[in-house]
Amino acid sequence: MSAQAPVLTLDGPGGAGKGTLASALACELGWRLLDSGALYRLVGLIALREDLDADNAADCAEAAEAARGLDLVFEPDAGEGQRVLLAGEDVTEVIRSDAISDAASKWAVQSAIRQALLSRQRDFASPPGLIADGRDMGTIVFPDADLKIYVTASAEERASRRHAQLSGSGVDANLERIYREILERDARDASRVVAPLKPAVDAHVIDTTGETVSASLERVRGLVRENGWI
Ligand code: DC
Repeated sequence: MSAQAPVLTLDGPGGAGKGTLASALACELGWRLLDSGALYRLVGLIALREDLDADNAADCAEAAEAARGLDLVFEPDAGEGQRVLLAGEDVTEVIRSDAISDAASKWAVQSAIRQALLSRQRDFASPPGLIADGRDMGTIVFPDADLKIYVTASAEERASRRHAQLSGSGVDANLERIYREILERDARDASRVVAPLKPAVDAHVIDTTGETVSASLERVRGLVRENGWI
């Protein structure tokens, strides 16, 4: 893989801060960024629009076909983030809704969908390099990645970050409920048969509990430096 393009994988549970670290690093290194969660979210969006049912075999085959043919463009935006275009339509905000989060997690357990998205994800590896953000980047999608990082944080911390984020955007969120949902999602992600959430054996584990973004970023930079990329 390094002969073609260096790959840095960032895996971990939602809310651990890997998305923020991934965008900052991609920006700093000038590398491509694969937000693999967005691909599952797009499948969720298409499935909702087409009224596809994850428990129906024919619908599952149709969703897998849509996943293989995703007309997707990640476009850099003004900051460190990127806009997500589906067949030219800007769906950046739409795919962050609760309904789509829910649909994405349902479709993400389907092996046909995971299989359909494999080569799409691998195609993102191109010079000068790729930062791949997800759940199974280091274990399944890029097992030969040059540097693997697993970013985690306590469930309490992830719940309070999510709560602060929702409150900041004017949503009246319940911390206790968010915490319970996080525990449920963790258990589901870790116990699912296909691509369960776990650190790759050769991943560096970074726990961001009680740490500022800049402190976590500095730790990740240390690993990037050891690889001679900065
Ligand atoms: O990281 P996210 O919240 O945008 O991910 C959306 C959903 O996709 C979430 O249910 C986890 C799942 N996912 C996955 O199974 N594998 C990945 N590589 C990325 C996301």
